[in-house]
Parts: sequence; structure tokens; C-alpha cells
Amino acid sequence: MSPLRNRVAVLHGVNLDMLGRRDPTHYGSLTLAELERRVVGFGRELELEIECFQTNAEVEFVTMLHGLPARADGVLLNPGAWTHYSWAIHDALEIAGLPAVEVHLSNVDEREPWRAVSVVRDLVIACVSGQGAEGYREALVRLSKELDG
Ligand code: DQA
Repeated sequence: MSPLRNRVAVLHGVNLDMLGRRDPTHYGSLTLAELERRVVGFGRELELEIECFQTNAEVEFVTMLHGLPARADGVLLNPGAWTHYSWAIHDALEIAGLPAVEVHLSNVDEREPWRAVSVVRDLVIACVSGQGAEGYREALVRLSKELDG
């Protein structure tokens, strides 16, 4: 029998700690702590063990990615604005080498043109955007299928 692969790191980047104070038409009204609780609940339904992490420091995000293979089997990431320009995060995600799903609360393809650009898109198995907190459930389902396969 293959070993259980059910550890998922959920990484939030810059400004996501400000959920609850950001434009609710794009980001909803949940705080990050509330969103994380929901994600842990979605994980429980899917028998995934969720570890959440958020930082506003790019170096900490990159360092977390470097160490990820020791603590997770897959990663769900919402890098916030870094999504659109951080090649450092692209390279760190590539180094982590784990199955990854990109998620955004808002619909990044239907906002300003610069938000439609994602520098991590070539590394992820899926991108879920514009579905608010529910999108994290779909992202976890995609990841879970990948981990089971
Ligand atoms: C975001 C979208 C980004 O464009 C923005 O910079 C964020 C949040 C989202 O979840 O919709 O901070 O990643």
C-alpha cells in the first residue's frame, strides 16, 4: 500500500492578513483567521491535514517554500500581489517540487490587466479564482486527487 500523502500547506502572502479590512466586493468579509478555520474544515472533510501560514515578508515566504518538502505533501498558495511579479517565489516553488494549486479569492482575470498575469501558473496543477472561500474547497479537492493518484 502506498504511504498516506495528506499533509497540505496553505500559504498566504502579502496583505492577506488584512482580510476583513480589504474591499469586500473582491475579498468577502472573512478575516484570515476565519478563512483558515474554514480551510481546516474543508481539509477535515477530505481527510487532509492542513497547516496554515501567512507572511508579509517575501523572504519568509521563500524560506517556507524551501523547507516545505519536509513538512507537506502538497501546497495550496495564494501569494497575493506577489503572484503577479515575484520570480523569487516562482523559483522557490519550483525548488519545493510539490504538487501545487494556486488560489485567489477574487477573479484575477476580470480585474486590472496586471492581475491576470501569474508568474507561478506554469508550476501549478490548477488555479481557482473568483470563488471566495469556497474556492479553497475546490482547490483542496484538486490537490487531494493529485495526492491520491
Ligand atoms: C488575491 C488577488 C491579488 O491580485 C491581490 O493582490 C491579493 C489577493 C486574491 O486572493 O484575490 O492580495 O490574491
